[in-house]
Amino acid sequence: MNVYDSQRMADILSPFGYALTEEPEQADIAILNTCHIREKAEQKVHSDLGRLRSHKVASVANGRNMIIAVGGCVGQAEGEEIIRQAPYVDMVFGPQTYHRLPEMLANVMRNSDKKRGPGRGVVDTEFPTEVKFDFLPETTESRSSAYVSVQEGCDKFCTFCVVPYTRGAEYSRPVESIVKEVKHLVKLGAMEITLLGQNVNAYHGEAPASSHAASKVWGLSQLIHELAEIDGLERIRYTTSHPRDMGQDLIDAHGAVPKLMPFLHLPVQSGSDRILEAMNRKHSADDYLKVIERLRKSCPEIAFSSDFIVGFPGETDEDHKNTLKLINDVNYAQAYSFKYSIRPGTPAGLMDKQVPESVKSERLQELQELVNTQQLAFNKNTVGTTQKVLLDRTGKFEGQLIGRTAFMQSVYVLESKHLFGQMVDVKIESGYANSISGVIPSDKCLQLTA
Ligand code: 5AD
Ligand code: SF4
Repeated sequence: MNVYDSQRMADILSPFGYALTEEPEQADIAILNTCHIREKAEQKVHSDLGRLRSHKVASVANGRNMIIAVGGCVGQAEGEEIIRQAPYVDMVFGPQTYHRLPEMLANVMRNSDKKRGPGRGVVDTEFPTEVKFDFLPETTESRSSAYVSVQEGCDKFCTFCVVPYTRGAEYSRPVESIVKEVKHLVKLGAMEITLLGQNVNAYHGEAPASSHAASKVWGLSQLIHELAEIDGLERIRYTTSHPRDMGQDLIDAHGAVPKLMPFLHLPVQSGSDRILEAMNRKHSADDYLKVIERLRKSCPEIAFSSDFIVGFPGETDEDHKNTLKLINDVNYAQAYSFKYSIRPGTPAGLMDKQVPESVKSERLQELQELVNTQQLAFNKNTVGTTQKVLLDRTGKFEGQLIGRTAFMQSVYVLESKHLFGQMVDVKIESGYANSISGVIPSDKCLQLTA
């Protein structure tokens, strides 16, 4: 979602003459769009700020200036404290106020002749009553795979997580506004859309005025059915989901909507019921496995990904074994795993029996080894098959492109530069732990380049 938000910030500033630069030292304004989810992400902000400061000093010495802004969830959580610690920061804002960037920028410029010191920087970390999406201009950037934020915030309050405090309460955009944005992106060239939300499957947006359904609120499955009607849109994905909100209608959509990709990121966090309860997840390991089973029934080829936290307070070896058991039961195509990180203001941070770092590291390694084995097997399993790949990134080597299969595997192909942004058939030749590689059958190449 931060990638999407950053793109939108660029869209807002573009009418004011700002364009993206690859050279940070040349920037007139540098915005750090930050993440507060774990301590490591937060620390990165402070080291990045140090680097920006030297660019700013050089810029001022050259008779120019560089406005430094901290946006995103660290901005939301730390507010003025950031400017107190780093007085060279001009602007702090949260994820719900970035539509006010032009206004904030004007204030910073107005204040720029004031003396340095407290009160000079602009801080906007409100949760405003107006909805930022109503103020964002249409993007002009063309992307073959694009993000669209449909839902934000979270009311679930898992005990380890800062999101409900930094992103705020759950909000779903109205269906009409999402459909309009998706149609616009498709017109600009998007073939794949990923619907975003911290709790995307809790989506409950205002139904379109034309809807004859009794309910004036639509869930995610209805939204997906609606978007699937858009000509030119070939792939729909959504992330991130909560197991509790995986309703049967959404599960059925995986079997019924060919454009809905057979891949789901469904975080479980732990395989131990005791820990899941302490995390306030409100589902058991078995509930989760049943959801997986229902999804596989609806769409037999579906592949899964998940998030895991190791070393949550009070986690024993037995709890950890249960997590490994769940991983074995599901058999993932990929997964993200993290050591538990204390977050300020969250209930788990105050819990007894915090797990030592060394134990967290051991458990993380064991878990990642298991996941890597599954991921490698999944990737190798595609060798010899032909996969549809949307080539949307350039690789390190001359002529190399990277894209994703329907199952979210990264695919590397050489000699393909002319096919950038296209959906092509790739014959998979090799499978590795984090990617696969293949070739584009020459007849297809000829057909596309003719
Ligand atoms: N410590 C470690 N991992 C965390 N996550 C969220 N909060 C924490 C925390 N305090 C992980 C969860 C979530 C993912 C986005 O980040 O696994 O699903
Ligand atoms: Fe955080 Fe997700 Fe739990 Fe919400 S559901 S509190 S975003 S981990």
